[in-house]
Amino acid sequence: MKTLVLNGSPHRKGDTAALLSELCKNLDGSIDVFSAYHDQIQPCDDCRQCWKKATCRLDDKMQELYQKINEYDNVIIASPLYFSELSDSLISMCSRFQYFWISRFFKEKELVNKLKNGVLIIVGAGDGTTVNAEKTAEIIFRHLKTTCIGQIFSLNTSKLAAKNDLVALKKAEDLAVRLNQLYLEESLGE
Ligand SMILES: Cc1cc2nc3c(=O)[nH]c(=O)nc-3n(C[C@H](O)[C@H](O)[C@H](O)COP(=O)(O)O)c2cc1C
Repeated sequence: MKTLVLNGSPHRKGDTAALLSELCKNLDGSIDVFSAYHDQIQPCDDCRQCWKKATCRLDDKMQELYQKINEYDNVIIASPLYFSELSDSLISMCSRFQYFWISRFFKEKELVNKLKNGVLIIVGAGDGTTVNAEKTAEIIFRHLKTTCIGQIFSLNTSKLAAKNDLVALKKAEDLAVRLNQLYLEESLGE
C-alpha cells in the first residue's frame, strides 16, 4: 500500500505533524510526503502548456508526483487552518494539480486513472469554522480521484496541543486501520 501525504504546515513538530505522525505510524506500506513549505514547489501560473502537450514546464519536485500519481492507494491532506481555509501554501502547491484536471478534457490521455481513499486532517488555534477548508480539500481530492473516508479535526490548539488531543489521536489511529482494511478488501476484490 502506498500513501501520498500533502502537508500544509510549516512546523515539523507542530499540531498537523502530531496527527500526521499518529496516522502514519499505524499505516501499512510506504508513505511519500509532499510538503508545501519545505519542498519548494512552485504554483501553477496558468501558462497552459498542459492544454496542448500534457506536460508541465515547471521543473521541481511536482514532476515526481506527476509520474507516480497512479501508484498511490491513499491521499492524506493535512493542514493548519489559515483564515478558516487550508494553508495558502498548501493551496498553492495543489494548484499544480490543474495539470491533472486539464487532462480530463483529453479523454484518451486522462492522467489520473486510479481511485484512491483519503483522509483530511485539519488543526486550528481557535474554534472557528472548518467548512471552507473542507470544501477546498474536497476539490483537491476530486482532482486526485480520491474519496475522503474520514476527517480528523483538532481545534483550540492554543489551549490543547494536538499531540495531547486524545480524541483526535484516536481518530487518526482508527482511520489508519480503516485505510489498511480498505486496501486489503480492495486488493481481494471484495
Ligand atoms: C496566518 C495564520 C492564520 C491563521 N488562521 C487561523 C484560523 O482562521 N482559525 C484557526 O483556528 N487558527 C488559525 N491559525 C492558527 C493555526 O491554525 C494553529 O496555530 C495551528 O494549530 C498550527 O498548526 P501547525 O503547528 O501544524 O502549523 C492561523 C495561523 C496563521 C499563521
